Amino acid sequence: MTLCYLDGRFLPLAEATVSPLDRGFLFGDGVYEVVPVYSRRPFRLAEHLGRLQRSLDAIRLANPLAPDAWRARVEQLIAAAEWDDQSVYLQVTRGPMAVRNHAFPATVTPTVFGLVEELVTPPPAQVEQGVAAVSAADFRWLRCNVKATSLLANCLLRQMSMDAGCAETILFRDGILSEGAASNIFVVRDGVLLAPQQNHLMLTGITYDVVLELAATHGLSAEVRDIADAEVRAADELWLSSSTREVLPIVELDGRKVGAGGTAAGVPGPVFRQMYGWYQDFKRTVMRGA
Ligand code: PDD
Repeated sequence: MTLCYLDGRFLPLAEATVSPLDRGFLFGDGVYEVVPVYSRRPFRLAEHLGRLQRSLDAIRLANPLAPDAWRARVEQLIAAAEWDDQSVYLQVTRGPMAVRNHAFPATVTPTVFGLVEELVTPPPAQVEQGVAAVSAADFRWLRCNVKATSLLANCLLRQMSMDAGCAETILFRDGILSEGAASNIFVVRDGVLLAPQQNHLMLTGITYDVVLELAATHGLSAEVRDIADAEVRAADELWLSSSTREVLPIVELDGRKVGAGGTAAGVPGPVFRQMYGWYQDFKRTVMRGA
């Protein structure tokens, strides 16, 4: 039986119900977080709760819970789940309306939902061999820094890669790399890690931050700046990052091998292997509670 949290109660998922007039259901009017949990310890929970607060601020919705209350609920969900490695989903919507109306109701009762699923990280073969991606024009809105539940554009874009048998869709806006449909994207060129700069056109991933921190800690040179489409296509290495996929090498883009012409064409590169090792070591410190 899967336990979830809904509006102040822990209950079996099968018994959880939400009003069809909930603004989350009718308008996608809500925000969310996905927190990975390793050995029953949440990874970067403070940072996830910080981003949740920023998303709530951006959509003008008061946080229904204080940080300690969020922590208590997350801990309870983690304790009740059957797996050691989990993915905790947290969502806040602007709650139910009396009548359908785009404008906010005078009184708002947010709907708070929490759910734990098993964390399924990429299988070793994917990490060893890498994955393929396609590219697409980024047709999302101009508030992509908000982790909003209104994800229709992301779903359509992600499905393009599914239809092509690929793992992710890499998005470009006006010739500049923004991110993946559900991940951040990194480029390696001449031994330098390139990361798109944080702005309203991309979500600043918690994993993105960890990757840049690990690069700084280990002396890998990194540049955070606009990355042109041509630079992505000429990359020595391409990676994606997200809470559930961690760091994953992309070895093919639009049917062309990444790193073509180099020694690591179409296979994960040496800088990825380093970063992957650093990331796994860093995870272990979290599992030990360090
Ligand atoms: N999404 N950009 C987008 C559009 C995303 O959906 C995600 C992750 C990221 C990476 O963020 P983080 O490193 O904090 O997971 C970037 C989650 C996993 C999801 O929607 O399921």
